[in-house]
Amino acid sequence: MSEVSINIKSQEINYPIIIENEAISDLKEKILKFINERKYIVIISSKVEKLYGKNLDFENKFVLKDGEKEKNFKNLQKILNFALKNKLDRKSVFVAIGGGVAGDISGLAASLYMRGVDFVQVPTTLLACVDSSVGGKTAIDTDFGKNLIGSFYQPKIVFVNPKFLKTLDNTQFMSGLGEVIKYAFIEKSTKCDEEFNLINILNEKDIFSKDEKYLSKIIEICIKLKKSVVEKDEKESNLRRILNFGHTYGHAIEKINNYKKYTHGEAVIEGIKYVFKIALEKNIIDKNYYFFAMDVIKKFNFRNIPEYKKEKMIKFMLMDKKAQSGKIVFVLPCDYSTVKICEFSKDEF
Ligand code: GLY
Repeated sequence: MSEVSINIKSQEINYPIIIENEAISDLKEKILKFINERKYIVIISSKVEKLYGKNLDFENKFVLKDGEKEKNFKNLQKILNFALKNKLDRKSVFVAIGGGVAGDISGLAASLYMRGVDFVQVPTTLLACVDSSVGGKTAIDTDFGKNLIGSFYQPKIVFVNPKFLKTLDNTQFMSGLGEVIKYAFIEKSTKCDEEFNLINILNEKDIFSKDEKYLSKIIEICIKLKKSVVEKDEKESNLRRILNFGHTYGHAIEKINNYKKYTHGEAVIEGIKYVFKIALEKNIIDKNYYFFAMDVIKKFNFRNIPEYKKEKMIKFMLMDKKAQSGKIVFVLPCDYSTVKICEFSKDEF
């Protein structure tokens, strides 16, 4: 078992992320121990319910269908009504068990219910373990875009159990892997006290074997890197923007394809390849680092995404939340595992 604590001093927030390979029934007991006789609801992804529901036999379960389109106003309302129907009060607890969709919408619901109740995250996908369950971003999507309605609301505790990843399908596993690779390329810029050299660690073993010890190690590193960033800049006014490495172009790919054809991680990988290309063209990095990075990525066999028309990409990149005063914001690689934020006007392309 290992524990990483997130400590946001300015807000007096301190919560543990417990990483433990344990029987799912033991995890259930731990969650109940945290709840400690209070009222609660569990929002669980339908896939996880099908696979693990017997061992996670909580009372008051709200089964949430899977897929990004479920992260909507209607389901937010349903979750809040479910809590009201079950007479939850200010001391009650919302527990999210699932991937980013379950975590994001439940976190937002928890932040709204009676102006905020305790929230527990149990991420069950690689993407949720290394990214969405850490750092307190909660949201739903609307017709106007992804994650446009949300809040910063930190959980009270996060339980990460790599056992869930054994049953994760390859597409979802690859999606999480895209974010893991992102951390490897931004490691030094996270200003983490510990040095891991995640790029080398990713070469140590075949990650697709899903060896639980190896996966736990990688997840822990990613969480520590994210912790370092979030503790310094919870609300993304500066440093946290580096977590968007590969995301400017990646989000545009996702939007163009209506969030259907490619997963988030695949789009991020394409976005990473794109920013490496820009950095090379602008002489920010040399050819050696460029080809080294392309080799790192190639090993994982992500699908290649065809190039879209430049005008279309620019239009979508300008719609990104990160775009400011008509400028497109990119996080560019500038040295080994190091990145910097750069703004470009439309005409600079
Ligand atoms: N997923 C990026 C962030 O949490 O800031």
